[in-house]
Parts: sequence; structure tokens; C-alpha cells
Amino acid sequence: MKIRTIDQLDLSGKRTLIRVDFNVPMDKAGNITDDTRIKAVLPTIRLSMEKGAKTILVSHLGRPKGQVVPEMSLSPVAKRLALLLGKEVPFVPDCVGEAAQKAVASMKSGDVLLLENVRFHPGEEKNDEAFGKQLAALCDAYVNDAFATAHRGHSSNVAVTRFVREKGAGLLMKNEIAYFEKALVSPARPLAAVFGGAKISGKIEAINNVLGKVDKILIGGAMANTFFAARGYEVGHSLYEAEMLETASKVLANAAGRKVKFYLPVDVVVADRLDASAVTKAVPAQEIPAGWTAGDIGPATSLLFKEALQDAKTIVWNGPLGAFEIGPFANGTYSIMRVLAETDAITIVGGGDTDTALHKAGMFSRMSYVSTGGGAFLELLEGKRLPGIAALEE
Ligand code: 3PG
Repeated sequence: MKIRTIDQLDLSGKRTLIRVDFNVPMDKAGNITDDTRIKAVLPTIRLSMEKGAKTILVSHLGRPKGQVVPEMSLSPVAKRLALLLGKEVPFVPDCVGEAAQKAVASMKSGDVLLLENVRFHPGEEKNDEAFGKQLAALCDAYVNDAFATAHRGHSSNVAVTRFVREKGAGLLMKNEIAYFEKALVSPARPLAAVFGGAKISGKIEAINNVLGKVDKILIGGAMANTFFAARGYEVGHSLYEAEMLETASKVLANAAGRKVKFYLPVDVVVADRLDASAVTKAVPAQEIPAGWTAGDIGPATSLLFKEALQDAKTIVWNGPLGAFEIGPFANGTYSIMRVLAETDAITIVGGGDTDTALHKAGMFSRMSYVSTGGGAFLELLEGKRLPGIAALEE
């Protein structure tokens, strides 16, 4: 079904409600520590301003569970946004009701304002119709640019759409969908997927879904330990999921049945403890010593993965390949990052930790596309239809 995008909407003079995802990390003092998500929606906000709209921004921050939690106020975001836009962004201390109505009524074309955290209202997460109606009453047109929230079926991205006259996707949402399609719907082949992270249980649906689409799949991170255990290897004190051994074996059989090339680490970096000052050594995956913990893929695996990705035309990556936050276990994740940075293939990366690792290494801009979605990106990989995207269909 068709989804219109903001560039196709006439917004001149219209009160335009844009659902954004300003769920940004903050330190204890309320300082924003990463503004990637704010920067990601600037093109949509600027386009809305250029079109002469009265731009009303609505977002959540954190999980206040329907209560007013002052530490989860979006007020610091209004200040950062004003700096980034180079214009005043008034902040309204509620997202519906009199305060919001008054602020919107006084707007002129080209103005931008930010409403308070939509999750301060219990109706939001219940996808409450009446609350959606209240939000819709603030606007003539509705745009959703909150890709990272698209896997949630909440009032500000689902119920609201039933009461608005016009609706469409923002530029970020449009890009996220387009890149995802480039990755998994009509990819340039060979298509490779790299999965890392701690647990198979959190990624199993995504792995099973992509097994039907990819040419090769590479697994790293603590998740690999469960595959080792399923093969009967000693895993020492390494993190693994005992209840997922059968699932891991099924994945291996499924990959073989589909003739998907399946790569597990051939060696790992083990340590006496997962700590920056730990004693470490590289060992074959079959030889993790009892009492030791695998914290990263080993150097031979980095080379193997580099070779395996050499002919790929599209690479999708989700999840770090080791405990990259701790110095001695960062090499595997960084080596994959370098491969992706240097390849001519289309590289599509998603997931909160992967994103953090890219920032840490200064390689964010070397990827073809880095999704702003953690859970939303994963659910797309799982083959799910996201409620926030479905609600935009005409
Ligand atoms: C995210 O950070 O993944 C999104 O903002 C969604 O947040 P949520 O998991 O609290 O719904």
C-alpha cells in the first residue's frame, strides 16, 4: 500500500504535527550525550519550515509510564534543537490541553515548537483513541519521522493517524524504509548479514528470517558461544544460553539446508575475567580453557570474516562481535567496522550498541547507512510489519 511522504504534502500555512524520536541519552545533569537522533530529523524539520508549515514536534523520552517524571522532560532537547536549527524553538510543558492549544494558536508559518514528553500521559502507550484525537486536534497535517519508535503501536504514531486529514512519512522514515528495502527486499548480491551481541534468544527471529534472504551469514559476539556449546565445545565461563542449544543446532541445519554460507568464529580472545586489566590470549574456538571467558572474536576470525565479506555487494550488520566497551575485547568489532568502512558494498548498520561502537571509533560516516532504530531495525529484520509504518498507509 502507498505511503505519501512529506515532500508530497502541501503544508503551506498548515499546523503540521511531526512525530519525532528524541529519545536521546542524557547524563545525570540532564546534558544530552548523543544528539544523533535530533540531527537525523533536521532535514524533515527544515523542509517543513521551507514549505511554510507551523511545525509542532512531539516525541517521547525514556519510559515514564504515564507519569510526569521531571528528569525525562524534553526541555533540554528544545535548547539543543534551537542551537542546531539556528532559531528559537519554544518548549510547551504539555503535549495536549490548553497549554499546547494556546502555543499552537500563536504560531506563524515557519515557526517550530516542541511539546513535552508524550509518554507523560497514560493514553500514549495504550494507543488510546481519545488521546490520539487530542493530539490530532492540534494539527491540519501529520508526519511521522520517528522510525526508531515505529515498532510501538502508540497513540502518537497509530491512533492519531485515524483522526488527521493528511498524513505522510518524514524524510528519515522514507530513507530508513528505502535502505531496508535495498538491504533485504531487492539487494545487490551477494548479500551478507553479520550478527553479534550477547544472546541468540533476542535475535533468533531475525536470524531465521534473514536466512531465507541472504547468501552468507556471519556470527560473532557472545551469541557465538551458544553455537559452540551446541557443537559440544567447552565454553568455560563464557556467557551462553543453555536453553537455546537446540535452537542453535536448528539454525545451523536450516542454513545448511538453504545453502547459506554460515560462518562462526574459528578462534576467540579468552580472558581470566571480562575486565580491562584481564589476562587474555587467543585460542581456537574448540579450545576455550575451563574457567576462562570468551570476550571477542580472535585475529584469525577477523581475517576469515574479512575474506568472507570480500565479494559481498550488500552487507547488513547488527550487534558488536565482542565486549567492545572493554579495551582488550574491542578488536573484533573494530576490525569488522574497518572492513565495512573500506568496502564498495552497500553497508547498512543498525542496533544501539553497534551505533555506539561506530561513534566510538569515529566510523559512523563511513557506512552507507546507519539506522536510527534499535528495536525497530531488529523487528524489520525479523520480517515484521511495523505498526508505525502500517498506520501511514493510505
Ligand atoms: C528506542 O530508543 O529504541 C525508541 O525510542 C523506542 O523506545 P522504547 O523502547 O522505550 O519504546
